[in-house]
Amino acid sequence: MSQSVRLAILGATGAVGTEILELLIQRQFPLSSLKLLASSRSAGKTLTFGGETLEIEAVNENSFRDVDIVLASAGGSTSKAWAKTIVNSGATMIDNSSAFRMDAGVPLVVPEINPGSVASHRGIIANPNCTTILLGVAIWPLHQVQPLKRVVVSTYQSASGAGARAMEEVKNQARAILDGKNPPTESFPYPLAFNLFPHNTPINEAGYCEEEMKMVNETRKIFNEPDLKLSATCVRVPVLRAHSEAVNLEFARPFPVSLARELIQKAPGVQLVENWQKNYFPMPIDATGKDDVLVGRIRQDLSNENGLELWLCGDQIRKGAALNAVQIAELLVKKNLVRPRVVSL
Ligand code: A2P
Repeated sequence: MSQSVRLAILGATGAVGTEILELLIQRQFPLSSLKLLASSRSAGKTLTFGGETLEIEAVNENSFRDVDIVLASAGGSTSKAWAKTIVNSGATMIDNSSAFRMDAGVPLVVPEINPGSVASHRGIIANPNCTTILLGVAIWPLHQVQPLKRVVVSTYQSASGAGARAMEEVKNQARAILDGKNPPTESFPYPLAFNLFPHNTPINEAGYCEEEMKMVNETRKIFNEPDLKLSATCVRVPVLRAHSEAVNLEFARPFPVSLARELIQKAPGVQLVENWQKNYFPMPIDATGKDDVLVGRIRQDLSNENGLELWLCGDQIRKGAALNAVQIAELLVKKNLVRPRVVSL
């Protein structure tokens, strides 16, 4: 990589922000400076980065003046509040929130699927929803060989999707329940420990929740398939980290299972994990901390000769958020798109 980057992380203290720090070191991201930004609650606190101690700053109007790329992971309202300042200061915002994902001028990027779309950005590039990224990298290689007719997916989503505090909350709930006490609920509407519930985002008139509609709309945008048929049921489960998905795929013709396995084995960002004798398939504990999405239990749909079933697990914080965002930043560097940029909002 030729260019070196003046990088800022907005939301540096969060679950995704701290993972981004780790990834920058592991992947030897070409940094010329690094700024850690969060809310005023964290101002003055420190984080270590590659043996160095860096102070966290409260985000403010001047935070982005000397920055090329901002990796934002501080929630939708914070992204909306700072997008204009970031773009007008000449930096490119890679946004992990849902604030701009469906905006026409904002590329929605999964580097394994649509890397070319970064070039069209006008200051903001959106990182897709975590469950959508995991599904996308797993089914894209198959879609390339035979276009998908329909996708039906059920998700089993971990607490990490709701941030670092939510992960702590599940642990505290488990302790409380085992001690015979009432489980504390702040991040989630109901106890998640020893329980599960349909995803706690607002429900539309058709009965689908926001998370489910993100999977539908974002997959269509990333795949550039505006009419792709997809239906999702999203469920929160008491897993700390890494989401799982049961996926049913329908094609126009039968799709050989052996070909699907071969494609998953060869594709970037996915790993085939199957031991049929031992009944060993992807599990959240195995996907945790891994870059690749683990895919297994690929089998023909008994009820449909043109259908395939598969099961996947992927680290929501890593490929579902932090890694995908860092990969987008790497793409900008590789394509010499870090600067200059002359658009303003
Ligand atoms: P802070 O730690 O100062 O609250 P998570 O997704 O794990 O809950 O993390 C959310 C991240 O977003 C944290 O780094 C948090 O910082 C940051 N954040 C939340 N609200 C704001 C805000 N209003 N301005 C800047 N950063 C924020």
